[in-house]
Amino acid sequence: MEKKRVFLTRTLHEFALKELKKQYQIEVHSGKIPIPRKKLESKIEEIDGLVCFPYDVIDSKLLDKAKNLKVISTYSVGFDHIDTEYAKKSKIRVGYTPEVLTNATADLAFSLMIDVMRRVSEGDRIIRKGKWSEIYGAYDYVGTDLQEKTLGIFGLGRIGSTLARRAKSFDMNIIYHNRKHVSKTKEKLFGVKYVSFDKLIRQSDVISIHVPHTNQTDQIFDKKIFKKMKKTAFLVNTARGKIINEKDLAEALKNKTIAGAALDVFESEPIGKNHPFTKIQNITVSPHIGSSTKETRIKMTEITLKNLHLGINGKKPKYSVGY
Ligand code: DGY
Repeated sequence: MEKKRVFLTRTLHEFALKELKKQYQIEVHSGKIPIPRKKLESKIEEIDGLVCFPYDVIDSKLLDKAKNLKVISTYSVGFDHIDTEYAKKSKIRVGYTPEVLTNATADLAFSLMIDVMRRVSEGDRIIRKGKWSEIYGAYDYVGTDLQEKTLGIFGLGRIGSTLARRAKSFDMNIIYHNRKHVSKTKEKLFGVKYVSFDKLIRQSDVISIHVPHTNQTDQIFDKKIFKKMKKTAFLVNTARGKIINEKDLAEALKNKTIAGAALDVFESEPIGKNHPFTKIQNITVSPHIGSSTKETRIKMTEITLKNLHLGINGKKPKYSVGY
């Protein structure tokens, strides 16, 4: 019997490729990231399984071209890049990788928060430009303490609550906003207090975003929100870039409407060296590395494979979106 076909839009660990090759005919995209749309369109027609990444747009038009596709296994906890409703209608299963990347992503959010509040990356850029001697005064290059500051967590799910535990040990006050309150027991455990979205915006010294990108959260952080935030406040985003209106944020940072931002995710990725954020000092940017630790990435690879194997054989993936 002919082996089933699997296409990967980017390479995975060697152990994974070996395992896949034993069971399937595999092809790995090796050129430009993200894979050009035309190439993905031509590949999707003939494959049984797809391994994709958060910057690959898997919409209904693309899915319409698939003749044999049984499963999309995304290497991410987020799945806003996939039309999951349409996939379900088309009887294509979707697997994703939650849980294993919770600690790594919360750690990154925490490190970005310290970075922008203590101006670490900004200092690195100053040294690289040979300008250290210009910031030697007692007060002209100072950061902000984390202790006693209010951290506003937008989305107290797995990653948001893990961040809360980290922040508690730094003596921060923690408030959160969610669609629903979490239980009183959890609030106590995480040391957090529920507030309305408006209060979260107005009271936080630093806001960290941990909600998925949906129609409700699309560009929710825009100039109206930045105006309501404290002038001394910071914004951290390790969730999805489209939750922020980037043009408005760039303006808010330049005009000092807010104090700073640290972002791991962007409206369109990857961003290049001419992106407006690269010209602004009070921002730290990182290349979407929330889950990017050796340990976490191995676990994600294992789950991606498991989801693929199950889905391609007509079974529900271990971590499945929808069905
Ligand atoms: C995901 O897996 O969706 C994250 O964005 C990775 O950092």
